[in-house]
Amino acid sequence: MSRSRKVGIVGAGNVGSSVAFILAMNGHCHEIVLRDNKPGIARGKALDMCQAAAAGRSHSIVTVADNPEDLKDCDIIVITAGSPRKPGMSRDDLLLINAKIMREVCIDIKKYSPNAIVIIVTNPLDAMTYVAYKTLGFSRSRVIGMAGILDSARMSSFIQEKLGYGGGQIRASVMGGHGDDMVPLPRYSTIAGVPLADLLDESTIESIVERTKQAGAEIVSHLQTGSAYYAPAKSVAIMVEAILRDTKQIHPCAVTLKGEYNYSDIVNGVPVKLGAHGAEEIIEVTLNSCEKKMLKTSMESVQSLLDTLESKNFFAEGA
Ligand code: NAI
Ligand code: 2OP
Repeated sequence: MSRSRKVGIVGAGNVGSSVAFILAMNGHCHEIVLRDNKPGIARGKALDMCQAAAAGRSHSIVTVADNPEDLKDCDIIVITAGSPRKPGMSRDDLLLINAKIMREVCIDIKKYSPNAIVIIVTNPLDAMTYVAYKTLGFSRSRVIGMAGILDSARMSSFIQEKLGYGGGQIRASVMGGHGDDMVPLPRYSTIAGVPLADLLDESTIESIVERTKQAGAEIVSHLQTGSAYYAPAKSVAIMVEAILRDTKQIHPCAVTLKGEYNYSDIVNGVPVKLGAHGAEEIIEVTLNSCEKKMLKTSMESVQSLLDTLESKNFFAEGA
């Protein structure tokens, strides 16, 4: 990792700007560059955050990329650019629209920041990470999707709510794709090292698992417009800082598999070691037959999205 510590964020909406704010306040990056196809939004938020950094005595600066070339030489680029679902639009329509946005953004990144590590946030997350991986042509260790940290944090928060204690000591584990078929793993969830099953009964754990799967939708139902952004942004910031600081800590992230867990050429959420080179190692957790079955279902969901893109000739059109 070079010393510039420049982080680009494409998509300065709710998630992108919240990531920028956390990074600017933490001060681990020298420069955070915002790019949005609504330039006024990026400029206004960048100015506001520069002033917040000054108030917080942080040395980070927040700038604007008016043109794609202004994203040059970023160490890390976070992509949150996407279109919200509009009335009359099917999930498949949205899939194709966001896939096109992802491809357009990645073509610019490949040109202007060919050494960057790219973190994908745009939904549907696993399919968009695959589109980015195919378009960028970077090694899979440099194209990483964010979801597992968020889903695990949500499960931890629900465990704390049920227990009434243990805050900060809960390590919940969620693998799989970022969708209804994600794979929460109570067997690998602990509170200060104590297995979850020693503290909560089976039906309570099952209710936590189901709520975790629906956690994004639960927030949407309250907000009415838009989806969650504070926990997603914190999760992205954890990834960015693990890479910049070369922590080599294990986090669940979406990466392209090449034989791990017996799957290839598909993106799914698995534990990875995050460091200066990105997803430096994929960890293979021992799964029982039930967990393997859940992972298979999750893989099939992601594959069906990739098949939809394939059926619309998305990949044949070329990146
Ligand atoms: P948002 O609508 O607030 O922000 C999206 C931004 O992207 C907008 O400002 C829009 O102008 C911009 N944009 C659209 N096309 C662009 C392009 N070609 N170039 C540059 N900017 C472009 O949405 P929000 O809440 O920030 O969410 C962003 C994405 O992240 C959505 O797809 C959402 O579903 C996803 N998401 C994923 C999560 C995960 O766990 N992976 C968690 C939360 C959100
Ligand atoms: C979430 O889980 C929308 O993917 C987003 O909140």
